Amino acid sequence: MSILKFMTLGRHIIEGEEMHPEATGELSKLLADLSLAAKVISLEVNKAGLADILGFTGDSNVHGEQVKKLDVYAHDMLIRAMDHGGHLCVMASEEEENIIHIPNRFKIGKYVLLFDPLDGSSNIDANISIGTIFSIYKRITPEGKPGTLEDCLQQGTQQVAAGYVVYGSSTILVYTAGHGVHGFTLDPAFGEFLLSHEYIQIPKKSKIYSINEGNYKYWHPGLKKYIKYLQEEDKASERPYSSRYIGSMVADNHRNLLYGGIFMYPADSRNPKGKLRLMYECDPFAFIIEAAGGRATDGKKRILEIQPQSLHERTPVFMGSEEDVKMVEDFMAKEEAAETK
Ligand code: AHG
Ligand code: MN
Ligand code: MN
Repeated sequence: MSILKFMTLGRHIIEGEEMHPEATGELSKLLADLSLAAKVISLEVNKAGLADILGFTGDSNVHGEQVKKLDVYAHDMLIRAMDHGGHLCVMASEEEENIIHIPNRFKIGKYVLLFDPLDGSSNIDANISIGTIFSIYKRITPEGKPGTLEDCLQQGTQQVAAGYVVYGSSTILVYTAGHGVHGFTLDPAFGEFLLSHEYIQIPKKSKIYSINEGNYKYWHPGLKKYIKYLQEEDKASERPYSSRYIGSMVADNHRNLLYGGIFMYPADSRNPKGKLRLMYECDPFAFIIEAAGGRATDGKKRILEIQPQSLHERTPVFMGSEEDVKMVEDFMAKEEAAETK
């Protein structure tokens, strides 16, 4: 990774918005507030291990203060950074059952923010990459009033921006606001996100698959055949593929975005809707991956065209390099056709 142009995230967002004459600058400010939250969460993530050594985890620290789990900390930090900017009318988070209102004392704006504050949280204590995922919509209810659940339950196609942050060997923020997918690496010395990956394009075909193979027994027969196919040897189609599965979708998808790959969390006989959440995990990634030239479906239908019915609903997901996603869809469709014969 090298810093490309000495372009800060803040300037990049403003220049992107300037391409649209109708833009008010509000989205730029909203994204700037989000990047501040990402910096604060990144700092806290980096000292999570240290806190453990020093005995600061658990219910209270040496000062008798409550110590929060990192995913709750990230959730609180995002709300604190975002509730008073005047740009949002409502928020929703993986960590809160209901929608999050903007307090009365603050201005109510026209945007809606949905987020997974910390993705891959089971990896925190093992020093493995984790992240934050976010999705931004324009409200559909009249302006000036508090936002509602209806504002949150929009199809993914309506997103105006989406992004994620990976807290890994370095911290990187990747976003799209409709003019390409761009990555910014946090320079820890002066605390700025600097452009490091411009106009990211996901390779059309890959050599990497990411899936929790421990669930093999419960899969659709077509999916079982597809994975076996990827493991066979055939030089012409660059098989066998490599298997890479981190257990943080944010990190698996980030790697796939850069090198090519397919990430899958399918439905199975125990979980008919899969595991991952449509609104703040699958939709933002589907938006980013499509903007980078990839494909994201539930096996049949575009993720972005699923009409959400509830905030925390789940969906099966197959996303990444276009040809690979099409191939797994074909394997499952063929098997279903054979079953119904
Ligand atoms: P979260 O930490 O936000 O609950 O999300 C974890 C998700 C996702 O990041 C990851 O890909 C998946 O759970 C891993 O699930 P399995 O352990 O079932 O493979
Ligand atoms: Mn998650
Ligand atoms: Mn989470």
